[in-house]
Amino acid sequence: MKGLILAGGRGTRLRPITHTGPKQLVPVANKPVIEYAIEDLREAGITDIGLVLGNKGRETIQETLGDGGSLDVDITYIIQGNPLGLSHAVGCARDFVDGDDFVVYLGDNILKQGIDELVDGFRERDVAAGIALQPVEHPEQFGVADVDESGMITRLVEKPDEPPSDLALIGIYVFSPAVFDVIEDLDPSWRGELEITDAIQSLLEYGHDIDSHVVEGWWKDTGKPEDILEANRLVLDDQTSSTDGTVEVGAEIRGDVDLDESSVIRNGAVVRGPASIGPDSEIGPGTYVGPYTSVGSETTIHGAHLENSVIIGNAEISTDEKIIDSLIGRGVAIGSADGLLPDGHRLVIGEHSDVKL
Ligand code: DAU
Repeated sequence: MKGLILAGGRGTRLRPITHTGPKQLVPVANKPVIEYAIEDLREAGITDIGLVLGNKGRETIQETLGDGGSLDVDITYIIQGNPLGLSHAVGCARDFVDGDDFVVYLGDNILKQGIDELVDGFRERDVAAGIALQPVEHPEQFGVADVDESGMITRLVEKPDEPPSDLALIGIYVFSPAVFDVIEDLDPSWRGELEITDAIQSLLEYGHDIDSHVVEGWWKDTGKPEDILEANRLVLDDQTSSTDGTVEVGAEIRGDVDLDESSVIRNGAVVRGPASIGPDSEIGPGTYVGPYTSVGSETTIHGAHLENSVIIGNAEISTDEKIIDSLIGRGVAIGSADGLLPDGHRLVIGEHSDVKL
């Protein structure tokens, strides 16, 4: 069985973060989102992985993941170009899949419990596809499934006004190669995309059986900034910390703090876990890093009070203000205006930023 991770798309909901990099590389607990998908596939025994890329951040993803060797997988890059829909993205991988069964994993999803049960269920039953589902509060924002008492799918609809159930497709699917023939005959949906939901609905209409698996444990689509913060909280809650870096005398650490060996917490700083501090970073005197915060690599923080935030990396934060619930992009500098200037916040903020002071 092969794996296919879809990492195209425009990432518009994560602007301005995605002006400078693809959303699949945004770190959650100091690990790029896409690595969670790769690890889940590897744990299900799938190491031959195709990665479908769009135009956005294509080179950056390739440079970051290379041939996959550092993650013990073998990655083949497949170029989709413009994001014409999930079925279009899957269709681009026909040669790579080469007649095998395969798992499709949306590259911006994270789930707690991995995909073993979904994959095992597909292997045990004679079906054309198996899809992962989870009950959600707002099914109208997702692909939605209707299932019978034995868990077989009876109908699928993409983002319906009147959802037939509360079971959302969470973006992980197992397919037999039969799906490629139905993709060839699809028409674009109302949103102009070749939908994966329509491909599966066509399989049903051709008389194929489609299995489902309701995923236990949390699942997060990291499309929006608040989703990244929530995924970060969920992952940090589950982490087993290793405080390998330097903790100076007079620094205070409470709770689970994952501190990279090359980073330092200075005398007079307080870090309250769960928190993660990446490589080559410094938490300076007077700083408070509060629960559910991930500080990326090469970041220096002096005097700030941070909570429930993700600092992507290469940041310089030297204000003594309180920063909460924030997603702070790479290379950001946040300082204090000196006392001689009129009162007020001085900001250099990217296009489409969302700032509350
Ligand atoms: O998150 C689960 C939902 O994902 C499902 O419930 C829906 O049925 C499914 O259509 C999908 O909906 P979204 O509207 O959230 O999909 P999105 O456009 O965000 O794309 C999901 C991932 O696939 C993302 O990592 C980008 C990638 N992608 C997307 C498109 C449209 C591609 O690689 N190529 C594409 O053409």
